[in-house]
Amino acid sequence: MKYAMIVKEIEKRIADGYLKPGSKLPSIRALSEEFSFSKNTVIKAYQKMEKSHLIYSVPKSGFYVVEDFLFRREGSKEKITIDFLSAGPDKQAMPYLDFQHCINQAIETYKEDMFTYSELQGLYSLREQLADQLQDLQVFTVPERIAVVTGSQQALHLFVSLPFPNGKKNICVEQPTHASFIESLRLQNAVAVGIERTSSGIDLDRLEEIFKHQDIKFFYTVSRFHNPTGNSYTNTEKKRIVELARTYDVYIIEDDYMGDLDPDLKQDPMFAYDTSGRIIYTKSFSKIMLPGLRLGLTVIPETMKKDFLRAKFAADIHTPVLTQGALEIYLKNGMFAAHVKKLRNKYRKKGIILQKAYNEYLPPSATYSGSLSGFYSTIELSNNLKAYQLIDQLKQVNVLVDNAAKMYLPEFKKDNVVRLSVSQVRDEWISAGVQKIAEGIMELIKKKQIMKVF
Ligand SMILES: Cc1ncc(COP(=O)(O)O)c(C=O)c1O
Repeated sequence: MKYAMIVKEIEKRIADGYLKPGSKLPSIRALSEEFSFSKNTVIKAYQKMEKSHLIYSVPKSGFYVVEDFLFRREGSKEKITIDFLSAGPDKQAMPYLDFQHCINQAIETYKEDMFTYSELQGLYSLREQLADQLQDLQVFTVPERIAVVTGSQQALHLFVSLPFPNGKKNICVEQPTHASFIESLRLQNAVAVGIERTSSGIDLDRLEEIFKHQDIKFFYTVSRFHNPTGNSYTNTEKKRIVELARTYDVYIIEDDYMGDLDPDLKQDPMFAYDTSGRIIYTKSFSKIMLPGLRLGLTVIPETMKKDFLRAKFAADIHTPVLTQGALEIYLKNGMFAAHVKKLRNKYRKKGIILQKAYNEYLPPSATYSGSLSGFYSTIELSNNLKAYQLIDQLKQVNVLVDNAAKMYLPEFKKDNVVRLSVSQVRDEWISAGVQKIAEGIMELIKKKQIMKVF
């Protein structure tokens, strides 16, 4: 068979090192000309190799050799774990060495500052760099309004108990949402009012009702690449939410933790539409740099600065100077901008592969969310299936996913949703992982049907 000849030849080229793991394969046209076979024959050969996970495709880009091709061909029995659970950034894409240089330089530059307490609001020289960098995200502000925090979670946690200028008491929160924020609400006995967020956004009439009648001091929202759904608001939705906040004197805490990864540069944060000074912006460096740095920032209205800084003082006096200094140097040297550009492309590629795999393999009874970048997405199972059953089933085939139950307020609780983070899964395993999840769901459906018969 003609297509088998192509498969054999490609395998030989990889084994000889002529085609490296991870590299792009010749285009369909190039190979069809080289072999004088039809394009259909080449497509068939590529499809066969993709089915056996020797190569993988990236829509609108082409076909690539899987990273562990040689290891598979040697017949190793070692099991691979496909980890959709870990929410840290892609380890291979992290700038350890560059950052190590920046840390060393920061020790030199800031050694005197290490012997004393530093600025409560964060190093001014870092805040100047941050104000510059924020412009790339359409956030125009001054260093005086930026506070450096020990991870953006610290700012979120502090805002929960802080008095707000509107004198109101309750907090409105999307459902589901980031689990640590749910924990912050619970630990500080905050009264939380949930509003459902799905792939089609939120019900803006319902949001208006809540703003109007429920004594809301702020609405906590993750405007892009929401955790856990991965969904983003459109600019029109963002404008409308900002308008509602102005009308009903509600503050918004806009958590733009992954804004840097947005491939669509026309998408603005809500902060860009604010005309009444009610948007508080937070940004994390955990997804784009390293979570272990514990570095984040918030842009606060002048009227709230004093209270916020009192709370920050009580929490930890200031964020460590060493990591602040290293980030400042990293930003100043232009390394951050180059790194962000690289990561944006990387996560977009992962997002495209994941969404294609969902579309191709998941049974119609399972609905999925997510966008073409960012880390997170969810799969919602039909009501009679439980997330924990799927998680247990998948563990047996070395696929890890997270239970989204902890991301809901008690009155919104769902026990049939799993969250996937694609950040630490190699491109060539994403599709195979989703296939295993689809098989796991089908297995559960079958078991349920058998139990019904008995
Ligand atoms: C939506 C969201 N906001 C904020 C954070 C906290 O980030 P940081 O590490 O900067 O505290 C996370 C962490 O995963 C998150 O998912």
